[in-house]
This record gives sequence, structure tokens and C-alpha cells, in this order.
Amino acid sequence: MKKRILQLLTEKGILVDPEAAEALSRLQDPMACVDRILKDAENQPLILSREDVDGYAGCAAEQQAPSQESAPRPAPERPKVDKTAPPSIRIIKDITGNSTCVGDIQDFTKLFNDRYTSIKRILAKRRELAGIIPISKAKKVRREVKLVGILNETRTTKNGHTLLEIEDETDKVQVLVMKGPKRAGEGFIKDEVLGIAGSFSKDGEIVIAKEIIRPDVPMNSAMTPNGSGAVMAFVSDIHVGSDTFLPEEWKRFMEWLRKDPVAEDIRYMMMPGDLVDGIGIYPGQEDELLIEDVFAQYAELAEMVKAIPDWIKIIMMPGNHDAVRLAEPQPALAKEVQAMFDSNIMFVGNPCYLDVEGRVVLAYHGRSMDDYIKNISGLDYAHPLEAMREMLRRRHLAPVYGERTALAPEKKDYLVIDQVPNIFVTGHVHKCGIAEYRGIKLINASAWQSQTEFQRMHNQVPDPAKVPMIDLGSGEMWVEDFSH
Ligand SMILES: [Fe+2]
Repeated sequence: MKKRILQLLTEKGILVDPEAAEALSRLQDPMACVDRILKDAENQPLILSREDVDGYAGCAAEQQAPSQESAPRPAPERPKVDKTAPPSIRIIKDITGNSTCVGDIQDFTKLFNDRYTSIKRILAKRRELAGIIPISKAKKVRREVKLVGILNETRTTKNGHTLLEIEDETDKVQVLVMKGPKRAGEGFIKDEVLGIAGSFSKDGEIVIAKEIIRPDVPMNSAMTPNGSGAVMAFVSDIHVGSDTFLPEEWKRFMEWLRKDPVAEDIRYMMMPGDLVDGIGIYPGQEDELLIEDVFAQYAELAEMVKAIPDWIKIIMMPGNHDAVRLAEPQPALAKEVQAMFDSNIMFVGNPCYLDVEGRVVLAYHGRSMDDYIKNISGLDYAHPLEAMREMLRRRHLAPVYGERTALAPEKKDYLVIDQVPNIFVTGHVHKCGIAEYRGIKLINASAWQSQTEFQRMHNQVPDPAKVPMIDLGSGEMWVEDFSH
């Protein structure tokens, strides 16, 4: 069997590390894993390592783990968590303290250049894009070309095809994407960076696309068990100060934290934005506020979180309702607001990359879901995990400039997903869900607010008072429900 596996892989040009061969032969179904490696043409490693095997083996669950709102609690025989050990948490990337923008047009050029360069670097690793050339050069050679560009514009022709305009640092070009069953649901979003393999039309005016290539994440992104038994909980969109905040449900959650054995294993609690309802966020908001002063809202939150047991490290991130600049990336809450809270709380920006117990966590409030849902047909507010998959496919949290998500002209694009996370969490849409995409754990972290007037008008039904959790050691996810 081992020989046959090695033969299959070497025939495809993949060298196998002896440890990887050993790991493969120990799998329950080694051929299924080999099959996944061979099918993953985009990211196939040249030398297969043991980590690769673990990753591909872990991805087995993807097909069987569709989006879900609940999953069974983890097995009780998890490693014992030492509540007295210091938390293992470190910021990998965060705008806080690193903002450079002064807001002139030059800075937007730098932002888009950085986005282009960062995502092109990812695309350049793709086999289908071997031999990328600049658009200006492509216009001269007029043969089969591989291009990478930022999408400026999308139009539908009268025949129902799609015409894109893409741009790189040298020039712009029109790209025709023929309609067809394979193209259905392709979904283009302005200002995303994509790869095109195609050839010029006879008159040399446009490129006819054969293939659209997205940067995407590798197939083998699964978490391999690391022995930690610590649990991370996700508590989003608390909206303190709103008259639709749910105090009874919150109280139930706080009581559960004090008495349920599972709660003893929670070492981290991430709060991905909309901590308070804020003020002046939308016209007429004052009619829906119980606390009309934003500092008083934070003071109330500071009191509320005192009930959370002190073995839990709380991480607070702002969202579009919080009292920081609206343009993303948003820095952490101001020092005078932080001073209202206990000193052990960690404040981060939005988005933020964290290392928690050796796991890479990407947390983003999720404002850009509004733009993703508006621009990509098939996406809707009821299924935020699908929008999160689209972000990962494009390796960008909020590409669109000039629509709902305000972007700050930083020199570096903090919204590029340059590192593949183990865990990707968002809030914003007040839904609750857990799923997997290519081994990455996706979490949308509910809310603590019942249906608002705005949501009622737009027919959005929230799914509040739920807490998704993940065992950072095994990657097991589940949801605790405090809604009744
Ligand atoms: Fe919210």
C-alpha cells in the first residue's frame, strides 16, 4: 500500500518526505487523503511534509460539515485546563498604533498598490498563472496571456456576457468572460485582485478569459491537534445601551459561566465589535436608546463584564457602532474608554490577527458583508458564513471602495488576508453559525439584541443570545444557546 501511494504521488511530481509517508500509511483511509492531495492542483506541495498530510487528512470533514447553528458539545475527556496558567495570546497584526494615513489621494494609491502587490504574491504561486506578465506588455505580445489586476468595473453585455476592466501598475485592459454554466455564480466584486488566463481577441482590443483565478486559501488549512484544552468563546454585537439589548439572556449566560463545568475550560472570550449601540449611528437612533451617552454605555458594559470569571481573558474589538473612527481598519477603543474597564481586558483593532494558544485567529467585525451581499448574487444576510468563504477566496475582507464600508487610506492594506488563519470570526449580521472552509473554522458570533426596527424593515431575522465556542486544542466547535 505504501509503495502504491508513493508511486501515485511521484508520478504527479510530488516528492514525499519519509515522515509524511509514515503518516499517510497510518491513516484510516490513506487513498482518500492522496486523492485530496492530487485534486488540490492549486496548492499541491512539491515536497509533501507530515504537516501537509495532517492538513489534508483533517479536511475530510469539510464536505460532511455544512453550515450549522448547533453541534454537540465536545467529549468530556478533553485535556484538563490549568486556569492559573497565564493566557497564551499575542497580537500578530493590528492597525492600533500603526496608522500612517493623513487622508490625501496619494495614500489611497499606496493602499491599492499594497493590496495589488500582496495578493499578486499569493496568485503568483498558482500553477495556472505561471508566467504572469504586465498588462502593457501583454498588449504588445497579443497571444495567450496570464494577467493579474485590480477589478475596476464590471458590466454585462447585451448578449449576457460579462465585461471586466482590470488594471495593474502598467495599464488597463477589458476582459470578456463568456456566460455559461461554469460561470454561473462567479460573482465579481469591485476592487478585488484576480488572475486571468486568456487570449487576446483578433483585433487585439480585449482579452477573452479562459479562466478566472482567485487567490483562495490552500486545501490543507486544517488545525492539527496541539494538546491545548483551552476553549475560546465568541460574543459579538452586545449593543449595550439599545432598548433591544437582551438583559435576561445575558444574565442567563453569566450564571452559566459560574456553574457549568464546560465554562471552566473557557480561557478566552473574543468580542468582535458593536460592544455598545453608540450614538448617532443612524437617523432616529436616539428613540431606540436606553442609555443616550456613549461613555455611559461603555461604563455599563464595564460593569457587565465584571461578572465574567477572571480565568477568562476578554478581548474587545470595535465595530461600526463603537466610538472609534468608522473607516477600516479601525484602531482599538481610545485609552480613556479602556481606562473604564478592568486592566486585564485586551483591546484590539478591527480587523486583528491574533495568536491564541498557537492558533491563528482572524477577527473582523464584518461591516463589508453589506457590500459582499449587495454585489454577489446568491449571498444573503441569512447566510453570513457564505460571505466569509467569499472573503477567503479573494483573500480580502473588504475590497470595495466607495460603498458601505469606509476605508482609511493606510499605506499598508490591513484588510488583505495575507496569512491563512486557523479560525476566522465575524459578527455584524447578528446571526449565529459555525462551519468549515478548507479546514479553516468559520464562526459568526450572534448578538445580544432582539430584532431592531431597521432589521424588521429589511426583513432580517437575528439569531441572538448564542455563544459559539471552539476547543483550541482539537478544533471542535459547538454553540451554547442562552436564548430561552
Ligand atoms: Fe451589530
